Amino acid sequence: MSVISAKPPVASRVPATKAHRWREWMATIRAKDPAAGSNLEILLCYPSVHAVVAHRLSHALWNGGHRVAARWLSQVSRFWTGIEIHPGARIGERFFIDHGMGVVIGETAEIGDDVLIYHGVTLGGTGKENGKRHPTIGNGVVIAAGAKVLGAITLGDRVRVGANAVVLKPVPADATVVGIPGRIVTLRGERVHEGNDLPERHLDPEGEAIKALNDRLTKMERAMQAINADMPLLPCPATDEFIYGAGI
Ligand SMILES: CC(C)(COP(=O)(O)OP(=O)(O)OC[C@H]1O[C@@H](n2cnc3c(N)ncnc32)[C@H](O)[C@@H]1OP(=O)(O)O)[C@@H](O)C(=O)NCCC(=O)NCCS
Repeated sequence: MSVISAKPPVASRVPATKAHRWREWMATIRAKDPAAGSNLEILLCYPSVHAVVAHRLSHALWNGGHRVAARWLSQVSRFWTGIEIHPGARIGERFFIDHGMGVVIGETAEIGDDVLIYHGVTLGGTGKENGKRHPTIGNGVVIAAGAKVLGAITLGDRVRVGANAVVLKPVPADATVVGIPGRIVTLRGERVHEGNDLPERHLDPEGEAIKALNDRLTKMERAMQAINADMPLLPCPATDEFIYGAGI
């Protein structure tokens, strides 16, 4: 099990040696996942480590013009880890994918340092763009389970994307974005309401439709009662609670 830390990311710098980079990476994984044990355990049991190592190799092959070999290695890694990273994607230092299964990272995606993403995350295209069509992710960003970040948009440093959000527009640094479509709920620690498409409480459109139907039924029952006084007015379920998210 993992935690999302509010702590600032490890300062970015060019590590002196590969061993230094490796130790920093292991330390980052342990900091972000309290379940992580020894370096050996992380090396053997963390699909994120296998996927990122395979990606470093496939990215080098890709840049060297060995495109088929790069794609093949990327697909072997996908089969082994459940994490699909296109060899063209650019990934910074100390990247960690927790759990991993179902992650997709597109060809033109760029990921900064100290980024944490969870299972089910897609950094993909919208299907409407060519060339640069995948997101650019800043340093220290956290993208929670199941979230989709789509298009050639930029997420600023330390952005937090809520579980299952679908982000289609650029997000400034130090913002938290949730929902479908993604909307900013906090910016630099302050709650945000302006500039969002939805009111402060995020209504559920299906719940609103059910409430509208209920209101019409109640009106019809009242009209029928006026004709036949014996007809009972049926109780109405608590639709307000329903559309404000209780129980859904
Ligand atoms: C986004 C997240 C990181 C919280 O960030 P935060 O800055 O602390 O935000 P808060 O918890 O203060 O929530 C702010 C608002 O967004 C809402 N919100 C938070 N996460 C949400 C989500 N995923 N979807 C929809 N709304 C969400 C909260 O209900 C709150 O709204 P309210 O004040 O009207 O009730 C967290 O909610 C999240 O999604 N965590 C998932 C982590 C994960 O993937 N874990 C998997 C482990 S296996």
